[in-house]
Parts: sequence; structure tokens; C-alpha cells
Amino acid sequence: MNPLVTAPTTPAGALRRYYNQATPWFVRLGGIQPTWTIHRAVWAEGAASLPQALNYTNRLVLHAVQHLIERDELRQVRLADLGCGVGGSLFFLARHLKLPYQALGLTISGVQARTAATQARRFGLHDQCAFLEADYLNLPLAGPLDVAFSIEALAHAPDPARYMQQVAQVLRPGARLLLCDDFRVERPLHSYEQRWLAAFQRGWHAPALASPPQLAALAEPYGLTLVSDRDLTPDLRLLRLPTPLAQLLVHGGGRLGFSHPLWQSFVEGGIALQECLRANVVTYRWLEFERQ
Ligand SMILES: C[S@@+](CC[C@H](N)C(=O)[O-])C[C@H]1O[C@@H](n2cnc3c(N)ncnc32)[C@H](O)[C@@H]1O
Repeated sequence: MNPLVTAPTTPAGALRRYYNQATPWFVRLGGIQPTWTIHRAVWAEGAASLPQALNYTNRLVLHAVQHLIERDELRQVRLADLGCGVGGSLFFLARHLKLPYQALGLTISGVQARTAATQARRFGLHDQCAFLEADYLNLPLAGPLDVAFSIEALAHAPDPARYMQQVAQVLRPGARLLLCDDFRVERPLHSYEQRWLAAFQRGWHAPALASPPQLAALAEPYGLTLVSDRDLTPDLRLLRLPTPLAQLLVHGGGRLGFSHPLWQSFVEGGIALQECLRANVVTYRWLEFERQ
């Protein structure tokens, strides 16, 4: 068993069912429009509205891609979004890239892949942006890619080392892997912090949460070197629930008979995550790796 696995692993089939079930709700409730993203808003410099804050991490991807285009004098770019949701990050890049590109979005959920493909057709982007139901731990990709990225998707991986191995083999030398996700801190945790962390990992389906140094050590044997690490936690707007209410919702839901997967993820996992972020048990970060 992978030493990073500290919570029950959600089999890929169960995670697929979860996203297949949840995605129509995301779309129906309108929470993901107009950016078509399923990730957190980052209220850093330049983000004055919700769409801008939701696109903040997409903009970080764009800047990294533009940096590579200039540095390597690229005439076209090949990109993959590993854990693409319904395609929002690729749609954002498509609107801003000034040179030819080919992009592939992978998601474990067929519902997401089909939703993204439909949306790509509506936006007239279907020739450049393809979407596939696939597992990033068994990448069905022929490289070489210039950039691969995952926004809030790596945390779901039961085996981050395998993710690194799979990605490394489709990146060309000098290519970048960009990650935005939750990472655990390295300090020893109090028992109440461990309980919040366990509740977050269980509810959010984040079985093998690594710290940035742990992930860097897993990546290095595959020729991926960590070149940038930025903490975005201060730019999140965290939910502040009174601790007894948070405890009741997170630890009491099961006893009250709430066992729906969406309850477990959004209420139990989501609230526990907010507590972990507030207590500096987990940090939300932007990491860049370079393929040697
Ligand atoms: C929180 S959503 C983020 C979606 C998207 N990156 C965004 O920012 O809008 C997590 C994504 O990770 C994907 N994912 C999780 N495990 C995966 C796996 N093993 N292979 C491919 N995608 C996976 C899910 O299908 C989902 O699209």
C-alpha cells in the first residue's frame, strides 16, 4: 500500500459514480456557470468578481503556458487537463492563447466528458479541445505534451507516485506540470486536527494527501523537478462556522442518517476542509514541476 494513503480509498468506479451523479446538479444549480469550472475562487490580485476569482487559477495556467511559449519559441502548444471537470480551464485557455494549440481534457466521469464536449461544440472549440472519459493513472495519451495540469484533481489520486510516473512519460523535456490543490502540512498534528483531516480526506475522496516536499520526492525519480510553490490559502474566502455547529455537521451527519454522497462530500468533506485550511492543517497551493 502507498505510504501516503491515510484514508479509505475511493475506487475509481465509485469516484466516477460520484461525479456522474454530482455534475448534473452543479450544472442545474448554475454554480459552475459562466466559467464552467468546478474549483474554488481565489481572491488574489486582479480578482474583483466571482468569475475573475474562479478564473484566477486558469490565469496561472495561462501565464505558465505563455512563459513556455516565449522561452521555447513554440509555434504551437499541446496541452492536457488531467481531471478536467466540464472543461472550463481549457475553454479559458482557448479564448486567450494566441497561437495554434491542441488540447485534451480527461475526466473519470463520462457525464463530465460529454457535458464538456457539448459545450466545446457550442463554443466552436471542438476542433482544438477534445474530452475523454479516462483515468489519469492509466493515461491513454501519446506525448509529447508541452503542458499538463490538474486543478483540484490530484487530491483524488490514491497513488500520487503513479500519477507522476504517468504524466512524466507524456511530457517532453522542458515541459511543465502545473498543479493546484490541497496539500497537507508537515508539522505534527493535535488529535482534534487529525480528526478534521480524516473527515476531510474521507468526505472529499482525498485518500493520499501529500505535502509539497513529499510530492516533490515522489516526482523526482520520474524526472519532474519542483520549480515553484505558492501558497494560495490566504486568498481563499473561508467559511467560518461556530466550531460546535461544524462538529455537528461533520461528525454527526452519519448518526442523523445523512449518508448521501453529496452530503458526505459537500457538508462533511467541505466543512472539514474549511476547518483544516483555517487551522493550517491543509494548504491550498500552486505547484509547478519541470520535466528534466
Ligand atoms: C473538483 S473537480 C475539478 C475539475 C476541474 N479541474 C476544474 O477545475 O473545474 C475534480 C476532477 O478530477 C477528476 N478526477 C478525479 N480522479 C480522476 C482520475 N483518476 N482520472 C481522471 N480524472 C479524475 C474528476 O473527474 C473531476 O473532473
